[in-house]
Amino acid sequence: MKKIYVTRLIPESAIAMLRERGYEVDVSSYDDVLTKDELKKELKKKEYDAVLCLLTDKIDADIFDVAPKAKIFANFAVGYNNVDVEAAKERGVTITNTPEVLTATVAEHTFALMMAIARRVVEADKFMRSGKFRNWEPFMLLGTDLTRKTLGILGAGRIGTRVAHHGRRGFEMKIIYYDVQRNEYLEKNYDAKYFATPEEVLKEADFVSVHVPLLPSTTHLINAKHLKLMKKTAYLINTSRGPVIDEAALVIALKEKWIAGAALDVFEHEPKLSPGLSELDNVIITPHIASATLATRVAMAELASKNIIEYLEGREPPNRIKF
Ligand code: GLV
Repeated sequence: MKKIYVTRLIPESAIAMLRERGYEVDVSSYDDVLTKDELKKELKKKEYDAVLCLLTDKIDADIFDVAPKAKIFANFAVGYNNVDVEAAKERGVTITNTPEVLTATVAEHTFALMMAIARRVVEADKFMRSGKFRNWEPFMLLGTDLTRKTLGILGAGRIGTRVAHHGRRGFEMKIIYYDVQRNEYLEKNYDAKYFATPEEVLKEADFVSVHVPLLPSTTHLINAKHLKLMKKTAYLINTSRGPVIDEAALVIALKEKWIAGAALDVFEHEPKLSPGLSELDNVIITPHIASATLATRVAMAELASKNIIEYLEGREPPNRIKF
């Protein structure tokens, strides 16, 4: 009987899919992020054939080596920067992720953040709750319109493209973008203008939304120098991975008003926040929830299970990471 280890409780239907194939499924009983030692201890208990892991699990050579029979690690996330793909490659381990099923959900949260920071929704809510609302006032809590502004997309993959869709179709925004490769679909459907460097996008955009994967080449893609290039009236939105932005530099930029504001769902030292960030009014912070709707989390979990099933039954898993 094939044995599968799941590093945290995930939607039941995904576990049921695995059990229905006759696999023995062990779900971590911690219901918390496992430390490396805890994960190693768990994986040593049985000879697992597959592991379903989370973006909070650091999957590296040590982990692969305590589970030598597990030749597939299915990541319950689209981003897989938590996995050492070189170590996986060396050991012939297949890695899969969960793209597509979360694209619309992440794009919606990106827009929730964009609109909330532009219209000061969180600040206004705090204002109401503290009893400060006396009367309608001509200059109270003035925000910024999205309509017909310039939306800069950094990373024009599935999610970046969906964000551009909302910006263009919903708000008539002008779309400009940077990616390592051109996206003809984006240009044709949303009149998007391509720039070969992120700097050009940062200079022109009123809203910058980040959608690159976390790689050595995208770590601190946005640093102090880049923040200085942005318009003083511009907003930065990040629903990708925290280390793409130099968060210490961003705190200074927000404090000194180099830019108007930022809205972040991901953090450089997640779950910790850089000192000073949470004290600022011109930033909105959410706890890495861009894909957090029940329907999407079920779809992600089921896709991770599907990848395991396909692999274990000798078929090509649909979301194998190419390396
Ligand atoms: C979430 O951050 C994901 O990568 O799916």
